[in-house]
Amino acid sequence: MSTVELLKKNINQAKNKKKFRALLKSKGNRKMYIESYGCQMNLSDSEIITSILAKEGFSKTNDITIADLVFVNTCSIREKAELTVRKRLEFYNSIKRKNNPKMLVGVLGCMAERLKERFLEEEKLVDIVVGPDAYRDLPNLIQEVEDGKKAVNVMLSLEETYADINPVRLGGNGVTAFVSITRGCDNMCTFCVVPFTRGRERSRNPESIIKECTELFNDGYREITLLGQNVDSYLWYGGGAKKDFKNASFEQQKNSLNFAKLLSKVAKINPLLRIRFSTSNPQDMSTDVIDVIAQHNNICKYIHLPVQSGSDKILKLMKRGYTRKEYLNLIKKIKQRIPDCAISMDMITGFCSESEHDHQETLSLMNYVKYDFGYMFKYSERPKTPAARMEDNISEKVKQKRLTEIITKQQNHSFLRMKEKIGKTLEVLIEGESKKSNEYFYGRTTYNSTVVFKKGKHKIGEYVMVTIQDCTSATLKGKVI
Ligand code: SAH
Ligand code: F3S
Repeated sequence: MSTVELLKKNINQAKNKKKFRALLKSKGNRKMYIESYGCQMNLSDSEIITSILAKEGFSKTNDITIADLVFVNTCSIREKAELTVRKRLEFYNSIKRKNNPKMLVGVLGCMAERLKERFLEEEKLVDIVVGPDAYRDLPNLIQEVEDGKKAVNVMLSLEETYADINPVRLGGNGVTAFVSITRGCDNMCTFCVVPFTRGRERSRNPESIIKECTELFNDGYREITLLGQNVDSYLWYGGGAKKDFKNASFEQQKNSLNFAKLLSKVAKINPLLRIRFSTSNPQDMSTDVIDVIAQHNNICKYIHLPVQSGSDKILKLMKRGYTRKEYLNLIKKIKQRIPDCAISMDMITGFCSESEHDHQETLSLMNYVKYDFGYMFKYSERPKTPAARMEDNISEKVKQKRLTEIITKQQNHSFLRMKEKIGKTLEVLIEGESKKSNEYFYGRTTYNSTVVFKKGKHKIGEYVMVTIQDCTSATLKGKVI
């Protein structure tokens, strides 16, 4: 093709693209329905997706039967999560057949990344497959489908952070919001599929984070949760993957910004804006971060610190990067600097070769820490992870028995931690009406415990001081003073 022909082709393509966008917008008011499964990051991604498509003329609907576009933002973390999504796809299919034959179905997120084109072949009803780093391509992919093609983009990126996209908030209480600060994970814990589905770790420009948080505050939001697979590993040096930091210029390295510094900047936006963050990998949590939490009243005194096991043998097999002793020293350090700090964990039970002794080590670690909350899971082998090459040799029955034991223990500890709050007067941010009674509000303390209390003349989004009178293992009850 001559240069002139090539130029003409490019111009035509550009015109077509413009035409297509104009057409999309003119079609206007097309409806999009989106469901999110899995972690908070997925919910945050759905807000980014909704924003990208709003610019293309799609508005959100909660009624699937009238949707032009149905998206499911998926999770691959355990087999069960994937089975749930497959069931949903069957459900969408039935709606498509009965009510809405023109409906397009898209699979987004981690499962899309893991199964790629296979999804289109295996699940006949899926039209679009898009991985976590390709959401900007959605408008083009939708057009491809409308042109009769099946559309896939599962390219992972070293830079994409969606920093400039203003998420459309889907959570809905107008008080609490998620703000993504890192994407991907470089840790390669042997059981975990995330490094494969979400790619290499990269951090978002701090200015865009501060801007988003400031705007949220100005819009009435009072609590933000900074999100990442491993937030403590945040490192901004001008863009690019964390693994490439060592090749950055001297100037870039000198001016780089770590999580402790970011956290303190965000905390200074306004003392009335509460800050939380999730998730911290124990191997990356620095003393500086703990000090910043201690120094700022508006950084919540609550740290989610997944441990996964209490046994050194298992921690090593999981490649978690810390020993039981190092983990316990970290807890000690936190409690020394922030004596009342609430701590929660994730725990996996029945990992490859976990013996009864290893399980007892987990129980004894729990007894020692007495976590405020816990999220506990049976080990689920994930294809292609390093642990998939080990033998998944703990029977379902034993996994279940051990899981029940740790859940029971955690419930006792949660109850204990809740009871410790009785008689205290705690600051609570009001988030909404209690599900059980419209005469009551619910909100959370700095420790992330939920409190219900009589509404009085207060409003959602206000801080109130509540004297705690009673509790269950999940909820505190109190009276506003
Ligand atoms: N970066 C996050 C991990 C997200 S996954 C973190 O460090 O918390 C959330 C939790 O799911 C993990 O902490 C782990 O407890 C659990 N999990 C991950 N992979 C799993 C697997 N293959 N089987 C069972 N639980 C798993
Ligand atoms: Fe997964 Fe470990 Fe990263 S649990 S998300 S590989 S810190």
